[in-house]
Amino acid sequence: MAAVLLWPLLSSAASALAPSDAWHQILQHPSLWNSLDLRGSQNPEPALQHISDSHVAAEALRNVVLEFAVGIEDRHLQQLERYNLEEINLNGCQKVTDRGVAELVRACPSLTAISLYWNLNVGVETLKALSEACPRLSQVNLSGCKAVTDLGIVQLAQGCPQLTHVDLTRCTRLGDTAYTALAKHCPNIEVLRMYASMPSALAIQGCGALSHLRVIDLCGAHAATDAAVGALGACHELREVNLTWCIQLTDAGICALGQGCRKLESLSLHGIRGVTDAAIQALAESCSESLHTLDTSGCTGIVQHDRARLKQLFPNLRCFVVHS
Ligand SMILES: *[C@@H]1O[C@H](CO)[C@@H](O)[C@H](O)[C@H]1NC(C)=O
Ligand SMILES: *[C@@H]1O[C@H](CO)[C@@H](O)[C@H](O)[C@H]1NC(C)=O
Repeated sequence: MAAVLLWPLLSSAASALAPSDAWHQILQHPSLWNSLDLRGSQNPEPALQHISDSHVAAEALRNVVLEFAVGIEDRHLQQLERYNLEEINLNGCQKVTDRGVAELVRACPSLTAISLYWNLNVGVETLKALSEACPRLSQVNLSGCKAVTDLGIVQLAQGCPQLTHVDLTRCTRLGDTAYTALAKHCPNIEVLRMYASMPSALAIQGCGALSHLRVIDLCGAHAATDAAVGALGACHELREVNLTWCIQLTDAGICALGQGCRKLESLSLHGIRGVTDAAIQALAESCSESLHTLDTSGCTGIVQHDRARLKQLFPNLRCFVVHS
């Protein structure tokens, strides 16, 4: 049974006891928890030290969350190397280095998820280590990791064929090689976020090979063409497609997408001036029942579809922003 050890909760419990007593009691019962959550902690050091000193806890610990915990450095990651971790969250831990993260993941062959949001250091060493040591990795969040390059993503894709969730938001240094490698080696990808990472038309088109794709975020993909987005029509499982500010698109791309994706639940056309009422009509023919979220704000080409009309075409629409 999974349980979470929350540092804030624990520190209030500990205030009644001498800290070491509190820790001692909790660490005597490792089966009660397998997750150490120090997110946002102002002082994560004592908790990590106690965990590190305790052999009792070692068997149980699987998930560690150090998201925005103050002062986390490589030496803290070293203390975690003796556990067989499955999930690691180092979001916002800006002091950890590429080498430090690489060394930790090399000690975690059962790793299934890692989140490194807004780390400007991690790059090819970490991705190579994941590739070589973590074949079961399914979720990787590199949102805001601006040092990540094609070389690293190619490595990752080659060694981690079980990836299902990949967040490359704001990875602005990626080119076609990275996306091509993911489409080729990781056929199980379900969620792919490329917001503000500027994929080319070719890169987007290649995602049409991902037959399990459910969610794609292309917000800000100025290079997206009708042909590229139309190719995503081959992803029949797509539920959520975000095309905000894909300014080149016209009805042709949206119609091709709609024809293949009959399970669409959420679609953003925000800011696309080239789409007209014809695109809305085409969507109503393919995903009238499934669509519940639609953003057409700034779509100056859509003139006849006010809220009442959209509700008629898409009876399950609950959340929508309409150009007015
Ligand atoms: C990646 O992490 C960021 C920051 O926590 C979060 O907003 C985003 O949803 C995550 N991506 C995925 C695919 O879970
Ligand atoms: C589209 O993506 C952007 C960036 O991820 C997000 O801020 C926006 O809320 C999304 N829109 C919809 C309708 O999901």
